[in-house]
Amino acid sequence: MKKTYKIFRFDPEKDKKGRYDTFDVETAKGDTVLDALIEIKAHHDGTLAFRKSCRHGICGSCAMQINGQNMLACETQVEFLKGNTITVDPLPGFKPIRDLAVDMDPFYEKLREILPYLIQADPSPTDKERIQDPVDFKKIEVAISCILCGSCTSSCPSFWADKGYLGPAALVKSYRYEFDTRDSGFHDRLQRLDNKHGLWRCHTIMNCNDACPKHIFPTEGISHLKRKVVEEKY
Ligand code: SF4
Ligand code: FES
Repeated sequence: MKKTYKIFRFDPEKDKKGRYDTFDVETAKGDTVLDALIEIKAHHDGTLAFRKSCRHGICGSCAMQINGQNMLACETQVEFLKGNTITVDPLPGFKPIRDLAVDMDPFYEKLREILPYLIQADPSPTDKERIQDPVDFKKIEVAISCILCGSCTSSCPSFWADKGYLGPAALVKSYRYEFDTRDSGFHDRLQRLDNKHGLWRCHTIMNCNDACPKHIFPTEGISHLKRKVVEEKY
């Protein structure tokens, strides 16, 4: 199956702004957009830059925009994309650093901001596991599957308008800890969530729900967090 790939290119040492290059690539049934990019890099243009690692939807590094939608390139099979031309862009809202690779540092800074780890009133036992009730685990199970790909935050108009906004990915991570029955970090995280660049910047636009390759529905977690903050404060 031969398709044309229209790929965003940007070399910070030569270009003031981005441009597109096109490549005609033959792929087989079951091949993904990531396979096509690897083929382009191997046989058409070795300078093409993009991120990948696991090739199995686990590491989150191959998130990019494919035909206008944020997706994981390694999970997107070419045969299911409509049209003969496939347009590939870097994640929107993030600063491109080269071709399809974007600067993820601000994304990780936001994540660090919400203290993404268990904060426990009592130290964990060192000689056994801290058991969690399966019913309690169910509440956070979906959020735990976040692979930090950035697709949700990148798709969010509130984030495009306010680069100080924590963004859905950091808020999903907050939800994951705030609703973990072993965590007692609410007051440590409260100020970080309860401000104009935090929870309340989410206007329930819900682009993040469509963008998430793990079907996490960040908006739902954010709504639970908002309710928790209101209930605990008032
Ligand atoms: S919530 Fe979904 S889209 Fe957002 S970072 Fe996690 S896996 Fe990616
Ligand atoms: S390469 Fe790891 S998620 Fe795509």
